[in-house]
Amino acid sequence: MCGIMGYVGSRSAPQVLLEGLKRLEYRGYDSAGIALFLDQHFVLKKSEGRLENVERLFQSESKRLEKATCGIGHTRWATHGKPTTQNAHPHQTGHVVLVHNGIIENYLEIKRDLLSRGHRPNSETDSELFGFLVLESMGSGKSLEAAVRESFAKIRGQCSVVVMSEREPGVVVGVRNGSPLVVARDPQGGVFFASDAQPLLPFSQDVIFLDHGDLAIATDQSLRIVDLQSGEVVHRESSHLEWSLEQIDKAGFPHYMLKEIHEQPGALIDTLNGLVDRDGFEPFTLADQPGVALLRQAKELVLVACGTSWHAALLGKYWLESWAKIPVSVDLASEFRYRNPVIRPGTLVVGISQSGETADTLAVLRDMRSRNIPCLGISNVRRSSISRDTDAVFYTSAGPEIGVAATKTFLAQVLTLLVIAGFLSREHKTLSSAELSRLFEDVIRLPHVLAEGLEHDSEMMKKIEETVNQLTLNGDAASAVKGFFFMGRGYSFPIALEGALKLKEIAYDHAEGYAAGELKHGPIAMLDAAMVAVVLAPRDAWREKTGSNLEEVKARGAKVVGVGESADDQLSHLCDFWIPLPVESRKLDPALLPFLLAPVVQLLSYRRAVLKGTDVDKPRNLAKSVTVE
Ligand code: F6R
Repeated sequence: MCGIMGYVGSRSAPQVLLEGLKRLEYRGYDSAGIALFLDQHFVLKKSEGRLENVERLFQSESKRLEKATCGIGHTRWATHGKPTTQNAHPHQTGHVVLVHNGIIENYLEIKRDLLSRGHRPNSETDSELFGFLVLESMGSGKSLEAAVRESFAKIRGQCSVVVMSEREPGVVVGVRNGSPLVVARDPQGGVFFASDAQPLLPFSQDVIFLDHGDLAIATDQSLRIVDLQSGEVVHRESSHLEWSLEQIDKAGFPHYMLKEIHEQPGALIDTLNGLVDRDGFEPFTLADQPGVALLRQAKELVLVACGTSWHAALLGKYWLESWAKIPVSVDLASEFRYRNPVIRPGTLVVGISQSGETADTLAVLRDMRSRNIPCLGISNVRRSSISRDTDAVFYTSAGPEIGVAATKTFLAQVLTLLVIAGFLSREHKTLSSAELSRLFEDVIRLPHVLAEGLEHDSEMMKKIEETVNQLTLNGDAASAVKGFFFMGRGYSFPIALEGALKLKEIAYDHAEGYAAGELKHGPIAMLDAAMVAVVLAPRDAWREKTGSNLEEVKARGAKVVGVGESADDQLSHLCDFWIPLPVESRKLDPALLPFLLAPVVQLLSYRRAVLKGTDVDKPRNLAKSVTVE
């Protein structure tokens, strides 16, 4: 999604803005630009494509431009209008310049009015129109701050903007009205703006997450925050971020995604420690937090999410139903929101979103809350928008995830759902204390088992590499792989869906995830020697049946990659490739095997993407947080 940076102070603005925008690249974008205030005028540098193109535009006059100490920058993810230089932000309208993140829903109406008053927009964007509104308002004598407030009253939609005017040199005004906006005081004097906290970390660890409806007015000497509607000053506490710069660097890995896959054992430990009361004697005791009361009252759960988070929800359903015996339905937020679902009394709606900013998920939660239905969130980002639209949030502690493809945040969400299932099983007395204690001991061991599997010389890692190398590098065009089927049953089914999604998003391969038992109802017709079937067959309650499905795909000539236990001679001999999990199931409850299967499918996709030479951390057409519908 779009990224915003802004700065006013004593540092060189182009350096601050470019450094910040680079740290926002992970969100996904298709064009970028910067506006600097210099010698009483704005200088704009914009380009389609990568940020490097903008950097190049600076080169010939870098000495002069570096003197600028005030400016705004943007990375754009096209919504209204193609990803061209002309549509790239910042947009200048007369003496006003702005960057915008989100959508102006009534833009057609506004455009019609502006055209009828003789204005001629230069771009196809909704964003530029806001500049005309500010220009008109300042034309009638209003200050920049008052003009932004007046203009905001005319638009509908969730968005944030940062605006400057040549008439008020050295003033930067930012509004959060839905899409996140963060400000931080520069210890050297001045203020930073950003759409995300992490680009501010090199400059300050104390940041202020603006609230919905806040307007911040910054100069090199001051920062004031007022309520967008009333104009009255509001006080916002700053938050001290514990994320270190090291945490958001690649730490020697070639890609953030690989680093984040390897960080999963730590993400599991931190998430567990954040959720459960480890001092208590009972297993699965949730640390005292507001969400606990909501869970206790719930008679039924509805889990809503998108993409990878939806896969986490599908997995959570297995534990919640089989352990806690609570009815659970799982829905895609984009479907649920337009379907008029029937919600019975006693239902708790749980929105799962690693970013906490996904438009469809937030819309469902807002709608449910307006109907007085209790809502719980699960998110990795503290103070993200989901906290506004729910009664309580369980935060995962996976740390910042920079790779666009979700990996460690997925496992952290899955663990949170498992812990909730354990907690409810104890509350509902559906599992005995002995069963719960045994499961909890295994949960505590799980990160260590996973860490062993992720050691670079483990059998699991070696086989993943060998398998992908052979599938990708060997053979001529005639034997090239045309597509992948990921299949599994029970707990492995959501992981099959996740494996197919990962491969599509970063390696651009055609891939499908299937419940193994469904294959014979149609898709098996597609199988031939050019197809790869990745069969998830750990030694669990479904292994026998999955084994039969494995034989079916083998008989159709597909290349078979099996994933299961190292000692499973029977299945491994049927497969072209066999990837062993780092533990035998009798040493870990089979319900926890998805935590080991997920990194395998992530790594298969990662390795394939690297060999195909795609942009692993910033795959085409994708964004880290999808703040539009
Ligand atoms: C896939 C991926 C997406 C997200 C989806 C929801 O790797 O990252 O499918 O899972 O856009 O995002 P959140 O969890 O932020 O709501």
